[in-house]
Amino acid sequence: MKYSIPLFDLNFDEQEEKAAVEVIRSKWISTGPKCEEFELVFSDMLGIKHAMTTSNCTSSLHLAFNVLGLKPDDEVICPSMTFVATVNAIRYVGATPVFADICGPHDLTISPEEIEKRITPKTRAIIVMHYAGYPCDMDSILSIAKKYNLKVIEDACHGPLSEYHGKKLGTLGDIGCFSFFTNKNISTGEGGMIVTNDDDLAKRVRLLRSHGMTAMSYQRSIGHATTYDVIALGYNSRMDDLRAAIGIVQLSKLTDDLMKRQEIRNLYVQLLKDEEGIIIPFTNHQEFTSNYIFPVILTNSTAIKRDAVRELIHGAGIQTSIHYPAVHRFSIYNNPPCSLPFTEYVADNEITLPMYGKLSHDSVRYICDALKNALRNV
Ligand SMILES: Cc1ncc(COP(=O)(O)O)c(C=O)c1O
Repeated sequence: MKYSIPLFDLNFDEQEEKAAVEVIRSKWISTGPKCEEFELVFSDMLGIKHAMTTSNCTSSLHLAFNVLGLKPDDEVICPSMTFVATVNAIRYVGATPVFADICGPHDLTISPEEIEKRITPKTRAIIVMHYAGYPCDMDSILSIAKKYNLKVIEDACHGPLSEYHGKKLGTLGDIGCFSFFTNKNISTGEGGMIVTNDDDLAKRVRLLRSHGMTAMSYQRSIGHATTYDVIALGYNSRMDDLRAAIGIVQLSKLTDDLMKRQEIRNLYVQLLKDEEGIIIPFTNHQEFTSNYIFPVILTNSTAIKRDAVRELIHGAGIQTSIHYPAVHRFSIYNNPPCSLPFTEYVADNEITLPMYGKLSHDSVRYICDALKNALRNV
């Protein structure tokens, strides 16, 4: 079925086309000056010392665990209410994910109390995920990390420019990771960024993202090096200049896009706040957020009822999604089983409604009516 209102729409126009064509004509299409420019604009926007482009956020997360020295036998406390990549990256370095529950249906971020309960002598790090761009309780999480000497990684894929006590998400822990996958606030097709204030970590990320080589092709092409050594077991986690050029244009549009998303969220909240049978998470949140997605949670519901509601909404030509199926229930993560009651309830009863800057206010009204009708008819 082709939906008349998709879940997401690209914020692209002729500027992205022009930027891509310029890179093609420059004849330098792999990692080069556009990646450097993208990194500078991004680090400036976040107020952080180092921003390094990567091929995607999964690579950023992998590099993060790697440069922080995570090893087999180490444990990392993580959410299950996230995309599976957050957790897979722990396994890439041989460490063990230990799932902690979210705060509840009003706040879908990892609970500091649940984190603390899961600390063992093997715990080395905590990874948080700022759901929809709403910040985790970073004051509590950072103080737990300090108390037990743990590293903190932020999966900030949903939150470019979202703020926590005036600071940008991704800049609060040891390392922050971002995604520029097609449906993110900044879209480059595939793409990612890894950010840190730590010079040594940044040096190591730069080395490992390009095979552990001491110089990249671009540096050799501009005469900054004529040969190279390989001094660590690295990967190919690089972005290319085509994507970086698109990313630079996307960054220039970001603030405007986020303002429109804020208006759309406000309208959704106004139209749905008195509706019985749903919770709109994070309704009391005041700080600036990216509004990556707009989730609602059905109350006194089951997965069967939620799926029936989604079917009716789809029947009205509106695409929805689920953020997220719980990672700890996937086949590769369910042994040994663990119980995370809030995560499980949300995984079974959440519906993600369309959210993007170009979504018209009439469409939002139509979506809310379709949701209300569906709730009355299941
Ligand atoms: C929370 C979260 N973490 C990690 C990722 C992985 O990002 P990428 O697709 O850029 O590897 C995503 C992307 O969907 C995500 O939403």
